[in-house]
Amino acid sequence: MKLIDKAKFSATALAVAGLFTTSAGFLESAPAYAKAPPKQQVVLDASAVAVADKYSADAAEQIFKEGGNAVDAAVAIAFTLAVTYPEAGNIGGGGFMTLYINGKPYFIDYRERAPLAATRTMYLDEQGNVIKGKSLYGADAVGVPGTVAGMWEAQHRFGKLTWKQVLAPAIKYARDGFEVDEQLAQRRENAEKDFGGKTNFDTYFGNLKQGVNFKQPDLAAVLTRIANQGAREFYNGKTADLIAASMKKDHGLITKRDLQEYKAVWRQPVQANWNGYRVITAPPPSSGGIGLVQLLKMKADRKDDFNNVALNSPQYIHLISEIEKRVFADRAQYLGDPDFYKVPVAQLTDDAYIAKRASEVNPTTPSDTKSVQPGLGTSMPEKAETTHFSVVDKWGNAVSNTYTINGYFGSGVVAEGTGIVLNDEMDDFASKPGVPNMFGVVGSDANSIEPKKRPLSSMSPTILTKDGKVSLVIGTPGGSRIFTSIFQVINNVYDFNMPLNEAVATMRFHHQLLPPNTIFWEPYKPIDGDLAKQVEAKGYTLQAQNFNGDIQAIKINGETPQPVSDPRGRGVTRVIP
Ligand code: GLY
Repeated sequence: MKLIDKAKFSATALAVAGLFTTSAGFLESAPAYAKAPPKQQVVLDASAVAVADKYSADAAEQIFKEGGNAVDAAVAIAFTLAVTYPEAGNIGGGGFMTLYINGKPYFIDYRERAPLAATRTMYLDEQGNVIKGKSLYGADAVGVPGTVAGMWEAQHRFGKLTWKQVLAPAIKYARDGFEVDEQLAQRRENAEKDFGGKTNFDTYFGNLKQGVNFKQPDLAAVLTRIANQGAREFYNGKTADLIAASMKKDHGLITKRDLQEYKAVWRQPVQANWNGYRVITAPPPSSGGIGLVQLLKMKADRKDDFNNVALNSPQYIHLISEIEKRVFADRAQYLGDPDFYKVPVAQLTDDAYIAKRASEVNPTTPSDTKSVQPGLGTSMPEKAETTHFSVVDKWGNAVSNTYTINGYFGSGVVAEGTGIVLNDEMDDFASKPGVPNMFGVVGSDANSIEPKKRPLSSMSPTILTKDGKVSLVIGTPGGSRIFTSIFQVINNVYDFNMPLNEAVATMRFHHQLLPPNTIFWEPYKPIDGDLAKQVEAKGYTLQAQNFNGDIQAIKINGETPQPVSDPRGRGVTRVIP
């Protein structure tokens, strides 16, 4: 007999009866669907994952061996990374999940929201200037977390296993510990310098040192409660009480009511036809999906200019930068939370509009930055950290998930008694429209702060299908570099016919309108030597960024999934027959 755990059963019963409480937002939004586990016709040789660390790969393998599908594995990975990849994996943040289930696309927006007490000017001083660091560190920087609600929605709707089963690996790692590797230890050290004793970060993570078996008993208790009681525990139970008390003590804005009213939202993903493929990607409040579609289509519109232009040659870098310039001009002007601002998605992804923008590309020299205005009528920075994972199952379902607490270890605030690292996602709002955020990107009124609003994101979990079957599952962290990185890897695979591992490992670069004519290069594969001289000779300034990206992707070759983890990170792949 199929096991139905109590939490899942009670939510299903409520859904059927239409009895949604008004006190718990994630239940208010409980869908009108009955639970519909995907069909089970085997179409691939194996299931596969590309994930940010080995513990989450082990968790996925366990879930597949227990008979779970891609959604069960994805939810287990997300909770595991919250324990073993605490710099970006989370339950104290939010994100986006793009799904392809039984041949149909879905998208869950579980992005954080501004607290009810948030105001448009909350990060400005009396002179109207941005107070440095206020939206980045400490309790003021925290948005209302969405991850637990998002995972609940996905697993409840499409999972095969019980909610308890998918939480079990994470609980084990939190309770029994996991071995800390060098990269994680280094990231903790860097973060501690940023937080500078201003938060309680050190109390919880001071011992996160290389080689240590790191245990998180408070987090284990939280995860156990969530496993037993469902997502409502996080938003309306003891965990909610602890988060609210901790925020009150630190003079943060989030109250229990904020948690109770939080909702994850099923949205229509952005979809476009490109090069014989269907691109399924993130809609607003992400800017990334629209940006990705514009990049792919503008490059296709200018294909004659790319004839005989070598990958990552000076001319290639110039042409791509010209295209990126126009995409970032639109991004700064038109994108924000669609529940608050009417984002012109159809116009921005319309073929004729994109062709017009493409026609403005100057094939020889950089266009004057000031002349590149938003096409329907400014640029901003987000933090580059975040984490992504890609999953396919042998039944042909796919999950592409990017989630974040913004910077590594978020705001540096750990909700007392929970071990939950809280995000600093409020920095992704335009604190003062026209002033760059942490990624150097500028925002407009579309992305100004309002209670319950979601900040603009670049996270772009993406799935490409061909003839109804999954071809590629891809995503990466990187703030505003996310969709330019995904774009480059897709180009490398489909335009340059590179095997996925090469396509991911190859050099990447980034331009985002502002600073003017500046091309960012990555430490992993710098733009240097003759290439640097030739790019500079074209009129560009080169700038190092302290971030590499971390693509996690799976390509389906025939019936065989080929997962690839970016050599820039500590990710791993796993194929589970
Ligand atoms: N905080 C990074 C992003 O949302 O894109």
